[in-house]
Amino acid sequence: MRLDDRRYPPTRFARFVVDGDKCNACQKCVETCPGQLLEMAGELPVNKHDTGKSALGCIGCKNCYAVCPESAIDIRGFYQVEGGFYQTQLRSPALPNPFGEPESPAFEALEPRLTPVEKVIYTRRSNRLYKKKKVPEELLRRVVEAGRFAPSQGNSQPWSFVVISDRDLIDRIGAECARRVAPVSKLYLESGDKKRSVFKTLAVNALARLTPNNFDQRLAHGIDTVVSGEKWDMFLHAPTLILVLGDKRSIGDPLIDAVLAAHNMVLTAHSLGLGTCYVGFVKMLNTLPELRRELGIVWPYKVMTSIAIGFPRTRTDKAVARERPKVTWFPADRSGPRQE
Ligand SMILES: Cc1cc2nc3c(=O)[nH]c(=O)nc-3n(C[C@H](O)[C@H](O)[C@H](O)COP(=O)(O)O)c2cc1C
Ligand code: SF4
Ligand code: SF4
Repeated sequence: MRLDDRRYPPTRFARFVVDGDKCNACQKCVETCPGQLLEMAGELPVNKHDTGKSALGCIGCKNCYAVCPESAIDIRGFYQVEGGFYQTQLRSPALPNPFGEPESPAFEALEPRLTPVEKVIYTRRSNRLYKKKKVPEELLRRVVEAGRFAPSQGNSQPWSFVVISDRDLIDRIGAECARRVAPVSKLYLESGDKKRSVFKTLAVNALARLTPNNFDQRLAHGIDTVVSGEKWDMFLHAPTLILVLGDKRSIGDPLIDAVLAAHNMVLTAHSLGLGTCYVGFVKMLNTLPELRRELGIVWPYKVMTSIAIGFPRTRTDKAVARERPKVTWFPADRSGPRQE
């Protein structure tokens, strides 16, 4: 089944382009694409939704580019909603440019001038290709320990972690969470029945306004991948999964503190040569009381997010271009505001 583009606002997706002279047909890009958009057409990968006029689904994450061993991939353009409720605010992508040069330099030229922390920040990519090899507990401890030293509102440290390396348990969490999210992707899929299609379009538009965080079309692609892809595993076959929990009673917004702890862990993991990928669908665990109890997740804790972690099967950590946000400066000499 295809995602139904009548339910999309006017959107320009990024475009996957491959250089046939360089590609060695290893299929790593096909395996890693979070929207499972790519397939092999003979010896070359293509976006199966690319009709020539439009290429549905590509969010421009450049994870395919990051895993390609032959530098054969170019991602052209970027994800842009041109109008309406979801109109995007970001501008065309650029490579890291911390020294504000007129043009972003090639990353290799920039690297010698960066601190070790900057290098990890710019090269970390979500890793979706893992070795089966278990991560030794000493390394996992180093990662989790970094979480404990994140800043938190009022020093409340409102977090708790569950570290799971039991394959069967990870699989069961994935299957149960996928079952819970499946109905959402159905709303975005084509249906032969015209009446149902009209109903779905109305429903998606209403839900997108009422609860935009749960009904973005990019999320629909991810859900479709998770529930329909036979080869796709919600936790990406990673040998370990870290659940990041937050204390619901905490000061301000405990989600912020929990995610700061999570990102300390993610950056530390990459500095140690591990690969990680956040998996947000795990939040469905909050609607599964039995499984939650089995995992020892009790009030006042709530699952905020999760991190799949393991040894990367191929090199994934590579700098990529990212869109540019608007930045407003108010300099000390009061010459501002100046917008970039
Ligand atoms: C909170 C959060 C949840 C995410 N959930 C998923 C997920 O369920 N599955 C997945 O493949 N990627 C997931 N991602 C990874 C994003 O797709 C990825 O960060 C984004 O495309 C940018 O790519 P990069 O991490 O390589 O820079 C998630 C990222 C964040 C921050
Ligand atoms: S940029 Fe991301 S979404 Fe687009 S084809 Fe590559 S991996 Fe898939
Ligand atoms: S990862 Fe690169 S070399 Fe491998 S199939 Fe994709 S484009 Fe070709």
